Amino acid sequence: MLPFFRKNKKSITTFFPDNYVDIHSHLLPDIDDGSKSFEESAVLIKRLSNYGIKNFVVTPHIMDGVWNNTPQIINQKLFELTNYLKTQEIYDIKIRAAAEYMIDANFEILLNKKELLTIKNKYLLIELSYFNPPINLKEIIFNIQIAGYQPILAHPERYTFYHSNYKEYFKLKELGCLFQLNLLSLSQHYVSKITKIAEQLLKDNLIDFTGTDTHNNHHLDVLETINNKKLLKLVTPVLENNAQLL
Ligand SMILES: [Fe+2]
Repeated sequence: MLPFFRKNKKSITTFFPDNYVDIHSHLLPDIDDGSKSFEESAVLIKRLSNYGIKNFVVTPHIMDGVWNNTPQIINQKLFELTNYLKTQEIYDIKIRAAAEYMIDANFEILLNKKELLTIKNKYLLIELSYFNPPINLKEIIFNIQIAGYQPILAHPERYTFYHSNYKEYFKLKELGCLFQLNLLSLSQHYVSKITKIAEQLLKDNLIDFTGTDTHNNHHLDVLETINNKKLLKLVTPVLENNAQLL
């Protein structure tokens, strides 16, 4: 088809509602595998802001022996980033900090101390190993709940061990775990099976919240390519849910 006749497809980056809060990102510099510097963080935040996203909860990894972040380290870095953004005259955004907690041996110790950083009130972002789920996952979810937190499982579509065991997603939801979809899963960024599972989770109304999980500029380049009408129709109403976590 001649370019003249090609219809412009809208990118997902034009669909964020005004009150959207990105509840999953790695925008704090030099603290995990996300942004490497204050300069890079400012560039990423400006790009996201241009999509209409003005509210962020940054979620650095807390992973035993890999990313030993603490609330003190994270809050200090947030303070420094906030000051840096002022020097760059970026004033029209709001950033809070939480964390993305790997369910590992150390997590239960942190949970017992009840010193966890939450997205808002009781909402706690957790992730699992990509190799296999913890054998006592049900018990851990229960313990999170009795400690007074509401677990949100980050990117459920990326855990390939559930792909051939799809009913496990329903079981996790029945246990009271909420799901946060990675918007990048609607692109070609991961393997196509992840996009298929993301689509199915949306169709089954299993997704509660969304997030960009931005680590770097490449992620935003990819985010801008998401323009599949069928997927956008499924995800657009779900984008509204994040306002609950403002
Ligand atoms: Fe993440």
